Amino acid sequence: MESGLENVVAAETMLSDVDGAAGRLIIRGISLDDLGGQSAEAVAALLFEGFFDDLPDSGAFAARLGAARREVAGELRHADPDLLALPPLEAVRALLARLGDGDDLATAFRLLAAPAVFTPAVLRLRRGEAAILPDATLSQAADMLRMLTGGAPARAVAGALDTYLVTVSDHGLNASTFAARVVASTQAGLVSASLAAVSALKGPLHGGAPGPVLDMLDAIATPARAEAWLEAALDRGDRLMGFGHRVYRVRDPRADALKGAVRSLAGAGALDAGRLRLAEAVEAAALAVLQRRKPGRRLDTNVEFYTALLLEALGFPREAFTAVFATGRMAGWIAHAREQARGGRLIRPQSRYVGPRPQAAA
Ligand code: ACO
Repeated sequence: MESGLENVVAAETMLSDVDGAAGRLIIRGISLDDLGGQSAEAVAALLFEGFFDDLPDSGAFAARLGAARREVAGELRHADPDLLALPPLEAVRALLARLGDGDDLATAFRLLAAPAVFTPAVLRLRRGEAAILPDATLSQAADMLRMLTGGAPARAVAGALDTYLVTVSDHGLNASTFAARVVASTQAGLVSASLAAVSALKGPLHGGAPGPVLDMLDAIATPARAEAWLEAALDRGDRLMGFGHRVYRVRDPRADALKGAVRSLAGAGALDAGRLRLAEAVEAAALAVLQRRKPGRRLDTNVEFYTALLLEALGFPREAFTAVFATGRMAGWIAHAREQARGGRLIRPQSRYVGPRPQAAA
C-alpha cells in the first residue's frame, strides 16, 4: 500500500491536471500561465461549465455572484461573541454550515459568495468594527477588499487578489478536494462537501502554511540571518513552511504566478520592497539548505510562500489566510463535488486490518 495514497489514482476529472514532473497546472484545458488576467468569476464559470444546466454567461455570472453575496450576508446576524472567539477559518466554517444543503446552481453561488463575505466580516467584527455589506456591482475580489478595509481598493490591489483567487481555484485531487469528492459521492450535497473540504484545508500541511511562512520571515528578520536560522529549524526537525509538495518535483507554477503578482504590487508601491527582498533571500537560502540537507529529494518553493507575502500586502491578517484560500478554492470544490456526484460511484475503499484477531476456540 502506498503511504498517503501517493501515486494512487482515485478519480477521473476533466477539471484540472497537475503535472508534477513538468511543473505545470492545466485548468480545463488552459495552462495556468495563460489564465493570468482572467477574473475569479471567469475561472469559476469555466470550472462550473457542464455541471449546471442553467449556468449564466460570464457577464451575468458576476452579477449572480454579487447578488449571492448580498443574500449570504444575512447569515452575519448569527456571528455572536462565541462564534467570533473562534479562529477566523473556524468562524467562517461555522457560518458556512448554516447554509442549506443542495446540488443546484443557487446553492453553488451562495457557497462561492460566502467565504468572500464572511471572512472580512468576521475579521472586522472580531476587532469590534461593524461589518460592511457587499456591493453586488463589484467584482468578488474588489468587493472582498472593500468589505475588509471600508474603501474601494486600487486597481492593482484588486487585480492581485484576483490573480490569487484564480491561481488557487483548482488543483487536481489535493486533500481538501478529495475530501469534498468523498462526501459528494454519498450524494450529501454541495454544502456538506465544501465543509469537509474547508476542514481538510485547515491543517498546516495543506492550506494552513502561509501564516507560519510570515512567522518564519519575522523570526529571520534580516537576509543575513536566513541560512543559520533555517539550518537551526531543520536541526530541530521542523519543516520549512512554503517548501515541498507531494506532486510537484519541480517548482510549483503557482509560486511563479504569485511571485509575479507580488512583484507588481511592490512596483505599484503596495508592498514594502524590504519585505520582498527578505522573502527572496529566505527563499534562495531555503532552497540551498534543503538541497544540501535532503539531497535525494527535490524540495522547491510551493504556492504558500508567495501567498503569505501577497495576502499580507493586501491587508489580511495571517490568521485569516486559510479562509482567503478557501474563498479561491471554493470554485474547484464545487465543480469537483458536482463531477463526482453526477458520474461517480460511492467512494468506499478498503482498509487492511493489522490489529489482533480473536483467539481460536481451544
Ligand atoms: N521542510 C523540510 N523537510 C521537508 C519539507 C519541508 N518543507 N517537505 C518535505 N520534507 C522532507 C521530509 O522531512 C521528508 O524527509 P525524510 O524522507 O528525510 O523523512 C521528505 O522531505 C519527504 O517528505 P514527505 O512528508 O513524504 O512529503 P509529502 O509529499 O508527504 O509532503 C508536504 C508534502 C506536506 C507539502 C511537505 O513538503 C511539507 O510539510 N511542507 C511544508 C508545509 C507546506 O508548505 N504546506 C503547504 C503545501 S502546498 C498546499 O497544500 C496548498
